[in-house]
This record gives sequence, C-alpha cells and structure tokens, in this order.
Amino acid sequence: MQSDRYAVVGNPIKHSRSPEIHSAFAAATGQALTYERLLAPLERFVETIEEFRRVGALGCNVTLPFKEQAYRYAGEHTPRAARAGSVNTLKFGAGDVLGDNTDGAGLVADIENNLRASIAGTRMLLLGAGGAARGVLPALLDRRPAQIVIVNRTAERARALAEDFPGVAEARDSLRAGETFDIVINATSAGLAGETPTLPDGLLARARLAYDMVYGRDDTPFARAARQQGAALVADGLGMLVEQAAESFLLWRGIRPLTPPVLALLRNG
Ligand code: ATR
Repeated sequence: MQSDRYAVVGNPIKHSRSPEIHSAFAAATGQALTYERLLAPLERFVETIEEFRRVGALGCNVTLPFKEQAYRYAGEHTPRAARAGSVNTLKFGAGDVLGDNTDGAGLVADIENNLRASIAGTRMLLLGAGGAARGVLPALLDRRPAQIVIVNRTAERARALAEDFPGVAEARDSLRAGETFDIVINATSAGLAGETPTLPDGLLARARLAYDMVYGRDDTPFARAARQQGAALVADGLGMLVEQAAESFLLWRGIRPLTPPVLALLRNG
C-alpha cells in the first residue's frame, strides 16, 4: 500500500530539516507517511503544488519565498492564517485546499514551553518587518505582551506592518540608546547574508531572551552578538521549526507529537 505523502516546498530547499522532523514525528506516533523536499522553480509554485496533488499527496509545508503565494492558492484559511496573510501549511481536501499558518504558534510554543519564558506583560522588540515578522505577529499579540515595538531598517515597511496590527505600540527604523526590552526577536533575514541588524551596545545584555528566528548548524550572527553582549538566554529558530512542524502534523494527522525528544535529536544530529 502507498503511504500518505507530504512535503516541504520552497526555493532553495536542500537544507530544510523538516523531513527529519516529520519522519521522527511519524515514527513516534505510529503514523505511516512519507515527507520529502520539493524544489519549486521560482515561477512555478502553483504548477508544482498541482502536480504534487495529482500524485495523491495530502498536504505540504511551504517555505521561502512562497508563503504569500500559498495564501492566495488556498481556497479556505484558518483564522490565524487569515490574520497573518501568509500560509506555511496546506491541507489538500477532495476539491478544496485549506491554508494554515503555524509559524506564530510555533514561535510562542518554543518561547513559552521549551525556553520557559513568559510573553505576557513583557516589553518586546521585533526586528524586521518582512514576511517572517508578519507571520508571527498575531500569535505574539495574542499572548498579551505589555508592548511590541517593531524596528526595521526601512521605516516605511515597519509602519505598514504596524498599521495592519493595531496592537503594535510603535514602529520605527532605529533603536534608542539605553532603551530596554525583555524579549528581542530577530525576524530579519540579515543572518542569511551573515549579518545582524544594527543594535546599540547593551541592548541584548539587558534582555531576558534574545531569539533568532533563523537557525543554522552553528550560532547565527545574531545569536553570536547576543552571547557577546551577555544576553541571559539566547535561542535560534530550531525550536520554532520543530514546534511549527508539530502544529502542521496536528492539522494533517489529528495528533500533536511530543516535541522535546525531536528537538534534542536535531540538536545532536
Ligand atoms: P522574510 O520573509 O524572511 O521576512 P522579507 O519579506 O524579504 O523576508 O523581509 C526581510 C526582512 O529582513 C526585512 O525586514 C528586511 O529589512 P528591509 O525591510 O529594510 O529590507 C530585513 N533585513 C534583511 N537584511 C537585513 C540587514 N542586513 N540588516 C537589517 N535588516 C535586514
């Protein structure tokens, strides 16, 4: 019998760790499924998905740079996907496609459950105003931080994002010397180019948690900067990746796998 097929679709996709995660979830929950990496040519996202559906696949994760296209492709959206305006999880039905966004829930679960840092009542700094920041803002706001400030190199983009989310306290293009945040989240793509956003001295030293949504085999540039400044707790996005995967698995399979063993497996692998 053919097993149920899933994939992660992106460009590039070679380095995605999602197949390892979903294989571990399947083994732990006794589910028979396969999960592959699917490279979609930049101009052929929809065709790639349609082809995957034609061979009987049941769903996929969607990563850079296709999350907005996945949103448009889905005929139905979960409320959290509708709020984020982007989709990282597609579930294929008989005739329709449901789009969900599990990134925000994944980030919140990693911060609160794995790192044991509470978001409620904190002063939070979100660096970046692109798709990654937009995808997680609704879930962060739902946890009722005292304040979220968005800082982005391009002020216009920060302001546009804040306009879509009235709960955001401030949006600007730079940090002020001496200001303090409890949680600093890097949602920029600067790390992919080996860079970090410009941060004033001491900003991360005063933070309880410095969190980079990007992950890599080694410390990301932001995580390195946070350690150098002496942040109390430093994390990369691997925990978020595992947690968002568990939420996708739940949507597809009706069961939420335990994440700590899989996160440990990935850290050691
Ligand atoms: P993603 O989907 O990963 O968010 P994106 O929508 O292209 O990708 O957004 C990238 C984000 O990272 C933006 O906030 C971008 O800042 P600009 O809006 O000013 O372009 C930010 N970014 C990328 N490289 C950066 C760098 N070297 N320093 C600071 N911010 C950077």
